[in-house]
Amino acid sequence: MEGEFGIGRFGGSMPVESVQALTARLDKEIPERYIRPEMEEEVVSYINGDGDDEIPVIDFNKLVNPEFSSKEACKLHLACADWGFFQLINHGISEDTIEKMKVDITEFFKLPLEEKKKVAQPPGEIEGYGQAFVNSEDQKLDWADTLFLTSLPQHLRLMMLWPTNPPSFRETLNSYATEVKKVADQLFRAISKNLGVNSGKVADVMEGGVQMIKFNYYPPCTNPDKVIGLSPHSDAVGLTMLLQVSEVEGLQFRRDGGWLAVKPLPGAFIVNIGDVIEIMCNGKYKSVEHRAMVNIEKERLSIAAFHTVNFGDIVGPIPEMLEEGDHVRYKSLEFQEYMKQFYKSRLEGKSLLDRMKVNV
Ligand code: OGA
Ligand code: NI
Repeated sequence: MEGEFGIGRFGGSMPVESVQALTARLDKEIPERYIRPEMEEEVVSYINGDGDDEIPVIDFNKLVNPEFSSKEACKLHLACADWGFFQLINHGISEDTIEKMKVDITEFFKLPLEEKKKVAQPPGEIEGYGQAFVNSEDQKLDWADTLFLTSLPQHLRLMMLWPTNPPSFRETLNSYATEVKKVADQLFRAISKNLGVNSGKVADVMEGGVQMIKFNYYPPCTNPDKVIGLSPHSDAVGLTMLLQVSEVEGLQFRRDGGWLAVKPLPGAFIVNIGDVIEIMCNGKYKSVEHRAMVNIEKERLSIAAFHTVNFGDIVGPIPEMLEEGDHVRYKSLEFQEYMKQFYKSRLEGKSLLDRMKVNV
């Protein structure tokens, strides 16, 4: 199965050692490739998310209830326009599904390396167990392992990369993916409506779009201030719905020149606007750079569900959304081509988006 729907459809990544395995055999010294000098040079003001700097909270139940939806939609618009990040509560995804997903992915990462490697990324592929964005021998590495899988639409799944250990994994992921996608589609509807002018188009495209799920495993690190769990980046998709598996914090996003640490509310999803929405709406909403830090003694797991367009769709400003006198600020690229661009270089801020910009 090669080509459009098969192995290597988004490009690949050079294989590197599992960080979890590395952590297990390491006594003190962190290998040079993981030491990030920028962590020392960078002058950042940490904002703690209290008072005015509290990340917006959107109540999904209110958003879809006609009695409350207009007020909640206003809040959603502000969250998208001013923050690019929000927490989603009362999303209606069954607790059972969420719990099973958390348990199964925790079990998966606990398996011996050889067992996990049964679903290792094949050469030239970024799906499966491994790491992405490694494109050179001397490049700095992130302190994390991942399991990355296309989950929807069903015919795009690379089933041989879906774990069968724990035995319930596939069924659990199928239910999780389906439930999360429903919520994402409703969010796209609400976002579309907020964007105005013929903007149902955004939701129409996204409804038939691709969902990819990335499980991130961040092992603890004796020197957490010297490494990065996940390099600063924006997501090259429409919308990301992130679930933390435990209470261990680590996600930070750019806000007022500093990094704002996210303290997830119990049961909430952390949602963020990705580059594809920024491009489609010609910059009305912006994707926001974020990164993940690691903990000194506790491992951290997160589940990112990415929602984007489908093969054959164009990532570009939607013509119907351009108002008179608007400059077209971004180029257009077919989805697969766009994704290949994303995985071709190392993960670096909003660099893909910068390359998509038209000089106006
Ligand atoms: C991602 C991401 C953050 C986290 O996977 O794109 O931003 O907290 N993850 O794991
Ligand atoms: Ni991200």
